[in-house]
Amino acid sequence: MQVIHTTAELREALALHRQRGFVPTMGNLHDGHLALVRQARELVGPACAVVASIFVNRLQFAPHEDFDTYPRTLARDCELLEGAGCDVVFAPSEAELYPEPQGYKVVPPADLADILEGHFRPGFFTGVCTVVHKLFNIVQPTLAVFGKKDYQQLMVIRRMTAQMALPIAIHGGETRRSPEGLALSSRNGYLSEAEKVEALRLSRTLKGLIARWQAGERDVPALEAEAMQALRDAGWAPDYVTLRRQHDLGAAAEGQPLVALAAARLGSTRLIDNFEVS
Ligand code: PAJ
Repeated sequence: MQVIHTTAELREALALHRQRGFVPTMGNLHDGHLALVRQARELVGPACAVVASIFVNRLQFAPHEDFDTYPRTLARDCELLEGAGCDVVFAPSEAELYPEPQGYKVVPPADLADILEGHFRPGFFTGVCTVVHKLFNIVQPTLAVFGKKDYQQLMVIRRMTAQMALPIAIHGGETRRSPEGLALSSRNGYLSEAEKVEALRLSRTLKGLIARWQAGERDVPALEAEAMQALRDAGWAPDYVTLRRQHDLGAAAEGQPLVALAAARLGSTRLIDNFEVS
């Protein structure tokens, strides 16, 4: 496995590979990330290149967010990636990826990107789309894998890729969880042991909401409000708990594939989770 820090070297290393699978990350890798790398490997086959990027993208962090403290663990990440079948790690410095202030940005449409995560993290998806579009141009993958853990991000990237006619197949990877059901996340490292147990309430709350929908309850705003209140009663600060259509995250309606999504703060850690309604 090669670890590469510049665009020029990456282009050289990939020159002979026409089929490329790509998994962009911000590092501090866990089994959720590695599952995406294994999926990319299966999708492209043994002869093609699998590339993972590690870059903590300042553009997608608000000034009060955890850009400075976001865990940076490159050496360990590279060991894990090698074990998962990655061929090339692209880990650019900030000066390499943004040699001048990134004045050109990719601004996603408000109907998809200014709701939910985008509402509570203004500019977040512009930061994500800008770096992902740039990384796509550098790596030039034929396919890319994104986790369903960040469900809205996956939808935003899917639409960007389609609308910009990028020749890249976007695949969604299932959310990896701890045996108890906590969605793996680099930010789980911020939780105390007691908070790790309490954190299970988020997935349980979503499961409960889905169970009530499946039992025939159709007052979605009431179901959402009750779920939010249950989190508040347990000491959480929820941003949203909601039932939506899968593909565009519009209002839930009968007969369409749905997804339940939540974001809430436990102590100082903001957690997100979701489940597709089967
Ligand atoms: P990061 O949070 O490092 O996540 C990288 C990829 O791993 C994303 O596609 C995310 O959805 C996926 N992922 C995270 N936790 C997962 C889990 N428990 N199961 C399955 N997949 C999981 O998402 C980003 O980085 C950034 O926004 C990025 C796309 C790299 C742009 O900067």
